Amino acid sequence: TTVSVSATASHAIPTTLFGQMFEDINSGDGGLYAEMLQNRAFQQVTPGTSDALDFWSAIAGANIAVIADPKPVSDALPNSLQVSVPGKSTTAGFANSGFWGINVNSSWTYTASFYYKFPTSSSQSVKFTVELRSASGKTLASSATTASGTATTWKQVQLTLKPTTSAPDVNNQFVVLVQPSGSATTTVDFAMFSLFPPTFKGRSNGMRMDIAETLVEMGPKFFRFPGGNNLEVRPSCRGQTTATRWQWNATVGSLLDRPGRVGDWGYVNTDGLGLLEYLQFFEDADMEPIMAVWSGYSLGGTSLPENELAPYIQQSIDQACYDLCCSASGHLSLYALDQLHYSRSSQGYRSPGALRASLGHPEPFTLNYVEIGNEDFFAADTYPYRFQDFVGNLSKAFPQLTFIATSDVGDPTLTPTPQAYDVHVYQTPGWFAQNVFSYDSFARDGQKYFEGEYAAISTNANDLFGTPSDGRLTFPTMQSSSGEAAFMTGLERNSDIVFAASYAPLLQHVNSTQWTPDLVSFDAGSVVRSTSFYTQKLFATNQGDEFMPSTLPNQNGTVFWSISRLTSTLEVIIKIANSGNSSAQLAFALPFSDVASSGTLQLLTGAETASNTPEAPNTVVPKTSTITTGKTIDYTAPAFSVSIIRVVAS
Ligand code: AHR
Repeated sequence: TTVSVSATASHAIPTTLFGQMFEDINSGDGGLYAEMLQNRAFQQVTPGTSDALDFWSAIAGANIAVIADPKPVSDALPNSLQVSVPGKSTTAGFANSGFWGINVNSSWTYTASFYYKFPTSSSQSVKFTVELRSASGKTLASSATTASGTATTWKQVQLTLKPTTSAPDVNNQFVVLVQPSGSATTTVDFAMFSLFPPTFKGRSNGMRMDIAETLVEMGPKFFRFPGGNNLEVRPSCRGQTTATRWQWNATVGSLLDRPGRVGDWGYVNTDGLGLLEYLQFFEDADMEPIMAVWSGYSLGGTSLPENELAPYIQQSIDQACYDLCCSASGHLSLYALDQLHYSRSSQGYRSPGALRASLGHPEPFTLNYVEIGNEDFFAADTYPYRFQDFVGNLSKAFPQLTFIATSDVGDPTLTPTPQAYDVHVYQTPGWFAQNVFSYDSFARDGQKYFEGEYAAISTNANDLFGTPSDGRLTFPTMQSSSGEAAFMTGLERNSDIVFAASYAPLLQHVNSTQWTPDLVSFDAGSVVRSTSFYTQKLFATNQGDEFMPSTLPNQNGTVFWSISRLTSTLEVIIKIANSGNSSAQLAFALPFSDVASSGTLQLLTGAETASNTPEAPNTVVPKTSTITTGKTIDYTAPAFSVSIIRVVAS
């Protein structure tokens, strides 16, 4: 096939085109958020039950229980770990097994902390020894402090741990030994434990380095958050239609003031990864937020009536204001951290921007896009009044923002007419290849589109969300990734109306997975970049700034391309997706008189079912080579491949 490339660009390509969609599904706690202890503050558990002790165990004669503490460390954290040890014991204590392991690296210094108090005052002293220990009982790092038995109010211990050696695997524990000086059995209450490795860009309470670096490596320009379904109310919470939604103001301030919530995906979100941490990460990673606000719909199927929406609209305005409002420095003292309780139980304080400033970020964050809910096509009958009321009020406060609707495009009719829609699609690899032209027929009437979630998730069109034995993918394959790449050539061609697109879900802890396939998989110690990750990276890191029309691919075929130009470097960038099982010969005729005689090829290709997995993480990786180029570039695209050709031409 000969592809003639036009000399004139048809449209500018938005810088936001390729980014990431994130929610806490197999991923935030124990993933992107670097905290290493699981169930660190006994949030949202029932004291006295064995589940309350999940990931904790007693060591050498200690008794441990989660109690409803009559004098808790904070109102938000009502539960404590009560530990009783025999007097003079040097070995009794307790351990946490982390998020299915703890990565012990001798080049890191860890920060460990906890709160303690004695229910009864005594004259003895108690030594606390904090260790990182291998499963076989070897001490890898250790640090100690001594407490006075008279401490009957909460005190915090902070220690650093420097391992003497790296552990060969993640089968390690965080251990606290409790050694009373006297001979009587001694009881100590503990709360809010934490263990942090060094974080991405050295932020306290920050992101796990290897995961954050992997995300940045993909070249994302935006980050959609905090959901996805996890924005919403748990399906099992019919009747409590609002209590379990994601609430920004319960995620900011001291960790002691964050109660956490049982997220939509069935596990406790600590909310340590809160609004400030998200926004700081976007700044550090040079991407901008696409931020969702809860829009009054419960996944259980219930919508709030219009006359009950007002407090939630106010909360969403406060959420946007937290990002955008300038520092109101005169108000700082009014909005100190200890007023968070007030903010949580009511509609909030008058200046979330001042709160943000008091928490260390006086400058407003970037915020251009706000999404009204998530997948509101599930409650299409009530979305018209919810959309109108949220957008009407939010746009009065922030007329400069773009608001994104989440119902089906044009159905129901929404007022005001949405500036943009978020479109989701989980399908087969074949569907993606067959729908490369889906946006070509959309009206050019000013409305924009965000392909906010897409992935080839199954080879079985009749049972997309079934099990692996039904065709559901466990990890992306070269067949699924090349199908997505085909679709992405269509997104780039239609980037005059498609301003953003993101694969979903983004992250997967392989020891606790709620959804497959995912873009990046990880465990406590390692990260796996999938074939779809490399596909996203190839598109995002090879983005031109203007689109160059060319001979259109065959809509019913399996080979697709899109061509852009990076004006700053005078490069032509050709992206080719071959989602079929045989190679394809192409000739690209460039409309330039001066074309470099060589260019670069980045090629991702592998067998139809080839995947990168924890056992074989590098099965398929992109390879870069130099190729011969000229006014006509002959290229054979291998079966199941994604190719990027860059050449300088003028
Ligand atoms: O990406 C997984 C889920 O798929 C999201 O939470 C939801 O928006 C969609 O249905």
